[in-house]
Amino acid sequence: PNPVTSVKLVLLGEAAVGKSSLVLRFVSNEFQENKEPTIGAAFLTQKLTIGDRAIKYEIWDTAGQERFASLAPMYYRNAQAALVVYDVTKPASFVKARQWVKELREQASKDITIALVGNKYDLVEDDNEEDLVRKVNVEEGQNLADEEGLLFFETSAKTGYNVKDVFVAIGNKIPEA
Ligand code: GTP
Ligand code: MG
Repeated sequence: PNPVTSVKLVLLGEAAVGKSSLVLRFVSNEFQENKEPTIGAAFLTQKLTIGDRAIKYEIWDTAGQERFASLAPMYYRNAQAALVVYDVTKPASFVKARQWVKELREQASKDITIALVGNKYDLVEDDNEEDLVRKVNVEEGQNLADEEGLLFFETSAKTGYNVKDVFVAIGNKIPEA
């Protein structure tokens, strides 16, 4: 059997954008309508097979509440991959995502793989032109990703849309151990 590649991955983003929900979907294929805010950080692992490669994600799910902001460097310092998450219905969360990308570029490992993730896609998929729930356009996300060299996905932790794809795309960017 092929050796397992361990990948340290951190999730960053404003409070309530759905970081823990994305992890819960990826690890347990579940969703909770009223998920409690993360305190400090949570650690989970999940294995993923991509073709003939086995990857073990070691996931640090950080707390987005401002009072925990000073803890983040501990979790991203050694990370090989990061998910920077925003909520497609919350412009302020996209502003925060930009800040996280900048901080990672300045402070994290030079070769970190970053995925920009616009979550809660389920809330905007039935948008009509009179009444737009979406507040961050796909183009805004894609432009930031292009400028900064990030992977980019819109996801829904609620329906599962694109969630596994994020982790597969990251895995494909990580060199073999
Ligand atoms: P912190 O731990 O405080 O940083 O928040 P978080 O980013 O981990 O958010 P969390 O996963 O706790 O989700 C916050 C709320 O949004 C919860 O009520 C979730 O059920 C809801 N939620 C998360 N993802 C989605 C999604 O894709 N769609 C919808 N409609 N709601 C979501
Ligand atoms: Mg959380």
